[in-house]
Amino acid sequence: LIAFFTPKHLAGQHVLVSAGPTYEAIDPVRGITNLSSGKMGFAVARAAREAGAEVTLVAGPVGLAAPRGVNRIDVKSAQDMLDALLPLAERSTIFIATAAVADWRVASPAAQKIKKEGSGQPPQLSFSENTDILATIAQGPRAKAGRLFCVGFAAESEDLLLNAKAKLLRKQVPLLVGNIGPDTFGQDHNALLLVDAEGSLALPRAPKLVLARTLIREIAARMARQ
Ligand code: CTP
Ligand code: CA
Repeated sequence: LIAFFTPKHLAGQHVLVSAGPTYEAIDPVRGITNLSSGKMGFAVARAAREAGAEVTLVAGPVGLAAPRGVNRIDVKSAQDMLDALLPLAERSTIFIATAAVADWRVASPAAQKIKKEGSGQPPQLSFSENTDILATIAQGPRAKAGRLFCVGFAAESEDLLLNAKAKLLRKQVPLLVGNIGPDTFGQDHNALLLVDAEGSLALPRAPKLVLARTLIREIAARMARQ
């Protein structure tokens, strides 16, 4: 019902959302992931849909049902996520990167399950850095031409404002959202800090869906001012 009464701030927009963790394989039965639940990203996708946008959600492994009316694509690794997002970004007008993308993948995942026996010592894993999906899309021609509004999220354990400002500049996005947390992973509530070139705006602790609706209004307002 609330969706019916929500002002259609994003009517005509194509919103792309990345959400959840990624999973980087060590071997066919093991991998490295993180504690992202995907809840914030799914809430953002739902809020964008309520605001009248066409929404595509690219999600890493999470145990959540897609919000009604949202197109969903499931991926595992950061590379899968990049491959899914790049072509979709070409047809989107807003990209909201809530995913907790693994910064590193295992350099050479084993083709078969690594066995304890015979090796004599624990496996020595080496890592390669994953492509920064948000930076790649935000620095691509579509975003540079002002046709794709990119929003990043930042998970920080210290100095949120300072780190969020640095990330805003490094990724070259017009809006960066910091998780005030603490312990936001898996929780239904969060508090956010919106950081842009002008300054910052704190959204006090609230259910993630409430925060997502406010964020969508803030994005719409910023796009209208551009
Ligand atoms: N991100 C991404 N691709 C990556 C890493 C991060 O798209 N390989 C996006 C995230 O979805 C998020 C933003 O970049 O929107 C910030 O992610 P974060 O992990 O906070 O920043 P990093 O640049 O990875 O820096 P660090 O983890 O060292 O703080
Ligand atoms: Ca990171």
